[in-house]
Amino acid sequence: MANTGKPLIRALQGERVRPVPFWLMRQAGRYLPEYRALREKAGGFLDLCYAPELAAEVTLQPIRRYGMDGAILFADILLVPQGMGQKLWFEVGEGPRLTPVRNRQDVEALRPEDVVGKLAPIYEAASRVAKSLPEQTALIGFAGAPWTVATYMVEGSSSREYAKVKEWAFGDPAGFGLVIDRLVEATIAHLNAQIAAGVNAVQIFDTWAGIVPEDAFDRLVIAPTQRIVAGIRKVHPDIPIIGFPRGIGANYPRYFRETGINALNIDSSMDLDVVAKELQPIGVVQGNLDPNVLLAGGVAMDQAVTAILDKLGKGPFVFNLGHGVLPPTPVEHVARLAELIRAHG
Ligand code: CP3
Repeated sequence: MANTGKPLIRALQGERVRPVPFWLMRQAGRYLPEYRALREKAGGFLDLCYAPELAAEVTLQPIRRYGMDGAILFADILLVPQGMGQKLWFEVGEGPRLTPVRNRQDVEALRPEDVVGKLAPIYEAASRVAKSLPEQTALIGFAGAPWTVATYMVEGSSSREYAKVKEWAFGDPAGFGLVIDRLVEATIAHLNAQIAAGVNAVQIFDTWAGIVPEDAFDRLVIAPTQRIVAGIRKVHPDIPIIGFPRGIGANYPRYFRETGINALNIDSSMDLDVVAKELQPIGVVQGNLDPNVLLAGGVAMDQAVTAILDKLGKGPFVFNLGHGVLPPTPVEHVARLAELIRAHG
């Protein structure tokens, strides 16, 4: 793979790189005026995702402003269920809506084998970005983890209580296992297609891993991720894989070891001394500034960024947030963040 010189990839492979490489989850999006203008022109969010030229442009917008070490491909985790045939749309100001999958008949209608064909425009966007990025900038592909994607598929939207997905997952483990199986298959194909199109690393977003009870954690979080990692490695043994199981606290070490990922994005709740002592010896850590601190800016942000770099910068480390950039974040705060990271000794 001809990406060995990129600082972010070197860091993800375990090298201590200075200045610390950085990128931000949701770095392309509504906090950028140029994003809002282009989305308006395209019609809506999904129109942007499926127009390779526009998706490539949106991917590059934050790189032009701030020169992050990684560009994350502009797309969404919910394109995978859409590619399997589930109806998806976005209600303005409210978020995603899907016609829910609730029973065996609904699951059997899903077509994981269709995903790579249906999502061809996404791979086209990836290959355009790979060709136009600066030499030192890496392109990151991604997918949602099966559990997180299944919460949206079963609830039919974002949720507060996750009552329906939990009822199914705990009341009918075998039936719910079929949803997970189809997602594992589709996700492996989707990530391998992104890698074939030119992405240099991939991240698996398990935003809702933290709501899974302990006795179901192996079945719903670790095992599906492990299968995806194995399915990628079989085809692309050297591609760095980043896991982001948000909010799993004491289970981070186990997730890191057992899934086989190279790098772990931790959320903002983690104690930095514990991270240095217990997670950095396992592999590369990425994170973990609170997005609300980036939104607030000022002295509090300066101090938080310095603390993260002082405590985690001693090992192989990639600076990121503990979750995505919030839409009201002032663009100057992101500029200040980039300056702090580059200036850190
Ligand atoms: O810059 C990037 O990070 C790349 C693109 C990206 C998006 N979504 C674009 C997006 C990525 C990596 C995602 C991941 C994603 N999508 C997750 C996991 C990470 C996380 O944030 O927890 C989840 C849970 C989704 C599902 C999703 N997509 C929701 C719940 C929503 C609505 C809430 C919201 O933020 O608007 C989306 C919409 C979405 N995905 C937008 C963007 C830029 C906003 C669309 C718009 O209004 O322009």
